[in-house]
Amino acid sequence: MTSNEIRSKFLEFFKEKGHKIIPSASLIPENDPSVLFTTAGMQQFKLYYTNPELAKRDFGVNNVATVQKCVRTGDIEEVGDNNHLTFFEMLGNFSFGGYGRKDAIEYAHEFITKEMGLKISYVTIFKGSQNIRRDDESEKIWQSLGVTNIREEGMEDLFWGPTGDSGPCGLTTEIYCKNASDEDVEIWNIVFNEYFSDGSREKLDKGEAKLTKLPVMGVDTGMGLERLVSVVQNKKSVYDTDLFDNEETKEKRIIVDHTRAITFMISDGVRPSNKGSGYVLRRLMRTVASYKNIDIEKLVEIIIEKLRKQYFELNKEWVVLEFKNERAAYEQAYNHTEAEISKHQGFTGYQAFNISSTLGTRISDIIEIAKKKGTVLSDKFKDEFEEASKKHQELSRTSSAGMFKGGLVDSGEESKKLHTATHLLNQALRIVLGEHVVQKGSNINAERLRFDFVHPRKLSEEEKDEVERIVNQKIDEGLPVGFVEMPRIEAEKIATHSFNEKYGDVVKVYSIGDETKGYFSREFCGGPHVSNTKELADNPNGAPKRFKIQKEEAVSAGVRRIKAILV
Ligand code: SER
Repeated sequence: MTSNEIRSKFLEFFKEKGHKIIPSASLIPENDPSVLFTTAGMQQFKLYYTNPELAKRDFGVNNVATVQKCVRTGDIEEVGDNNHLTFFEMLGNFSFGGYGRKDAIEYAHEFITKEMGLKISYVTIFKGSQNIRRDDESEKIWQSLGVTNIREEGMEDLFWGPTGDSGPCGLTTEIYCKNASDEDVEIWNIVFNEYFSDGSREKLDKGEAKLTKLPVMGVDTGMGLERLVSVVQNKKSVYDTDLFDNEETKEKRIIVDHTRAITFMISDGVRPSNKGSGYVLRRLMRTVASYKNIDIEKLVEIIIEKLRKQYFELNKEWVVLEFKNERAAYEQAYNHTEAEISKHQGFTGYQAFNISSTLGTRISDIIEIAKKKGTVLSDKFKDEFEEASKKHQELSRTSSAGMFKGGLVDSGEESKKLHTATHLLNQALRIVLGEHVVQKGSNINAERLRFDFVHPRKLSEEEKDEVERIVNQKIDEGLPVGFVEMPRIEAEKIATHSFNEKYGDVVKVYSIGDETKGYFSREFCGGPHVSNTKELADNPNGAPKRFKIQKEEAVSAGVRRIKAILV
């Protein structure tokens, strides 16, 4: 069976069982600025676990199925073994109050054993914890299907989620099958979303988040396509399947895995930068660039050729262009690094960290260069480097936490422009629709902005036109953009802010306009922004850009969403 057939079989199987097939969401999460990438199929459906009635409205049914593109970098060190990837496709079926444990497990069993003709090696069930009881029910269901090799695990392995700052989560049961290396490979994870956590997984593990029962139980399943294919095609590794080209060495596997991730990220609008998802992309690109003599054009072409039919958005030109630029930047940084290292006699880990963080050179490259030049490393080189990098991480965590509140997924020029456009839009909406308009959320990347706000009904064509007209007028007026820091109590008197965020005692207020021209907008915000609204019209290759609303829709009762671009 080919990987294409397996994908289609999965979707057909669940379609026949009454599921609506939904396209993959973008790798950049649409509803959740607190996560960098889409890491699971359920992410685009988070809302429906807490508001199951909306599923009927949006899909006509309670059950859906997808093939979702995902990026996970948590296991990046393991990429290159038989089963780990940073980019993968996830097959999933989801139910928002439509069915529960019995159907979910029976469907999975039927698909694996009948459709795929596989033998289940073993399954796992939750063994119970301090406040959640053992999953006896799943055990009984597996036994009724004749599966007797059942293992028990605890919170760490068999409690899933939430993704991001909060969300649905719950117990899981997993299916393992053997590959041709005789390894047991985790194929399918079936999550029963019974709870809502008001904090992140980290907080939950520390006992700092609260679990409440969801009104109805949800089902969220995820099956890694590449792993499933490796088992069905009886291969020793995912890299031996028809999704790859039999990459055998660790090096080749890393190159092809990272290039797949890079290809999908860039096609979804991520661009290399020093922050957030752009930083993850940059790291992956630089790792690939560090292997010399790679024909990137050829490699991207092969990757896209295999997946073109599933993912029309894949864009070879963008990927190759961005890669070449990044490779040039990397090579330049490499040369600068050589020059910097030459300046040192004893070369300490602190010095190495400074070089790495200013020039963006990887530590492995720094050590390699130092060795090549015969530079002597200090005795505690590694400890020193780690100490410096930990300190830096703590600092950047605080600053990025602030930045993601602004809804930006990176801090590139285009995102900055769209961020400023979001402030203009917010104020234009308040003028056209009224002062009740309050921001509920935003998400901005290099391609488009998305803005959620309180408003009871659909916007008319006239209202949308008027909002566009005002924003464009403010762009044409070339208003200065700047910020001041002031006590929150003072700021609340003059600036707008969203009501679902917590602010410190001192806040930054960004303003558009100035005292002489008058302030058009003043908002609580961490930035970053352009310095003048006329930059939004910049277009080196043609007519000045215009602000345009692409879509206006409901997200939940009383909350509307606008997607807009500069074009
Ligand atoms: N959300 C679960 C996972 O990612 C099941 O889809 O494994």
